[in-house]
Amino acid sequence: MSKTGVAVVGYGYWGPNLVRSIADNPDCDLVMVCDKRTDRLAPVKNRYPSARCTGNFEEVLWNPSVEAVVLATPVSSHFPLAQRILSSGRHVLVEKPLSTSSREARALLSLAQKKRRVLMAGHTFVYSPPVRKVKELLKRGVLGKIYTMDFSRVNLGLFQPDVNVLWDLGPHDISIALYWLGKVPLTVRAEAKTFVQGKIEEVGYLSMEFPGGIWVRNHVSWLAPVKLRRVSVVGSRQMLVYDDTDPVEKVKIYNRGVLKNPETFGEFQLTYRSGDIYSPRISSEEPLYGECADFIRAIRAGRKPESDAHFGLQVVRVLEAAQKSLKQGGKIVRL
Ligand SMILES: NC(=O)c1ccc[n+]([C@@H]2O[C@H](COP(=O)([O-])OP(=O)(O)OC[C@H]3O[C@@H](n4cnc5c(N)ncnc54)[C@H](O)[C@@H]3O)[C@@H](O)[C@H]2O)c1
Repeated sequence: MSKTGVAVVGYGYWGPNLVRSIADNPDCDLVMVCDKRTDRLAPVKNRYPSARCTGNFEEVLWNPSVEAVVLATPVSSHFPLAQRILSSGRHVLVEKPLSTSSREARALLSLAQKKRRVLMAGHTFVYSPPVRKVKELLKRGVLGKIYTMDFSRVNLGLFQPDVNVLWDLGPHDISIALYWLGKVPLTVRAEAKTFVQGKIEEVGYLSMEFPGGIWVRNHVSWLAPVKLRRVSVVGSRQMLVYDDTDPVEKVKIYNRGVLKNPETFGEFQLTYRSGDIYSPRISSEEPLYGECADFIRAIRAGRKPESDAHFGLQVVRVLEAAQKSLKQGGKIVRL
């Protein structure tokens, strides 16, 4: 089988990582790299001389060697560009979030179905080995009944010009929660504020209630002194912490918990349990390489990628509900 010809559109902050992942894939031929700011393309010409560079998106659609496109442009451009790509009969991987509304996401989904092309949402964390390890632990019931998940994704910058922090950093944690629990939340509530720019919120809190009473909280911020990429998951049997900044022990399981004693024990009815801490071995595969490889496999094998368009739509639905809650001063919104 010949290689799949791929173009990457958008070579800003994230595009270079996608270009590298595509170029490293033995089943791919990096045919083109496109960015309307052509000054950004100089390093591509040196590193990938066989890839054609262009500042004109139309040229990507004219090139018959391009079978698939990876889109890493600003969020507000995802819908119009992905629509053009699918209409031209090409497969497309759209960086997260898939679109700025569920209406747009649904329109892309039905266009992809009509054209029989792969439409994938770039939720990189679905391919992250520690995230997959936690999913496996949850599936095995290692933590017992899940009570809460607390996500922190904060650091200083990068401020986005077209979306607020909930739409920029939120998709990561929302996608992780949806992937871990295999469900969408019943309700969403959001609060966010701007302190620097005046219009686009830089600090946000998202609260989601999942079926079974699981309470998921997410703190996202571009205004924080240190970088945190941490989740704590509390279950009835054990608890865990996933810290993506830890170079060695990204996942730690704490054999800790609290038990309610029978009423007869009188006033002090709780027993605290504090046992061993265990860190499972986790593979070091690069998530983004896994994401791009899944896209290419889906095209070549004619099957759905894990982070498919339906999954991308669910993440957008949560973000949309969060935006609605924000508009209503933090009211609970049903999904
Ligand atoms: N999966 C992840 O972990 C991750 C991380 C960062 C960003 N992202 C996503 O990647 C996307 C891009 O983010 P970024 O931070 O790289 O943005 P960016 O602004 O740094 O880069 C976007 C680039 O797209 C170019 N562009 C815009 N419109 C274009 C058009 N019509 N044709 C050609 N080029 C065009 C711009 O000139 C710019 O160079 C966003 O969807 C973002 O959410 C994903």
